[in-house]
Amino acid sequence: MARKLFITGNFKMNGTKESLKTIVKGLNEAKLDSNVEVVIAPPAPYLQLVRSELKQDTVAVSAQNVYDKLNGAYTGEISVAHLKDSGINWTILGHTERRTLLGETDEVIASKVKFAIDSGVNVIWCCGELPEEREKGNTVAVVERQLSALATTLTPDDWLKMVIAYEPIGASKVAPVEQAQNVHAAIRKWLSANVSKAVADATRIIHGGSVNSKNCRNLAEAQDIDGFLVGAASLKPEFIDIINSCL
Ligand code: G3H
Repeated sequence: MARKLFITGNFKMNGTKESLKTIVKGLNEAKLDSNVEVVIAPPAPYLQLVRSELKQDTVAVSAQNVYDKLNGAYTGEISVAHLKDSGINWTILGHTERRTLLGETDEVIASKVKFAIDSGVNVIWCCGELPEEREKGNTVAVVERQLSALATTLTPDDWLKMVIAYEPIGASKVAPVEQAQNVHAAIRKWLSANVSKAVADATRIIHGGSVNSKNCRNLAEAQDIDGFLVGAASLKPEFIDIINSCL
């Protein structure tokens, strides 16, 4: 089944008002491949600025995290209600940096995913194994554990409002295509066995970890790689080359 390519630029905790305006100007002026769905995720203080500067209607804006409560005494957290009020309909959740640096567990992430989807915000859900888990050959088992935790909260329809991003944690260079494809195929197989074949066929499974304009084309040719979660390269003009890599 043909799945529309999905490319996310995760700016992480980078950028200034001026540098982000320059990135958005580049996107506004570029001819972007209309067969690619593009989402950019600036730091929270710049979400609204980026939303208002963006003129390309094929590019959406995403938060990098949200909380699993709508409003209240939750100092410092990001509310899906505030996102929707600002015209922002996507969030990244479970990013590897939040798992490893901020101690977010599979269960906490699953709860946030369910809350975001129920509130009408689409989710780019991240999964991936630690280097030591990879070295022991446990990659697929770890990703299946992360998927199973998510499955306890989601209905089959919920999965259709989500993109899955697989990122081998701590990999300093992009994974070999065959290795990446094997994990993506294992995720799709798990979806087919544990959710439904329709969800497995429809879900975009994107790849993260040192993706750039030189390696993205090869990766995109793999059967189960449906796009990218781009970090560092999304802050550079080459992000446009990545979006147009399959033209
Ligand atoms: O969110 C993006 C991923 O963490 C990949 O980041 O492209 O800088 O390696 P990177």
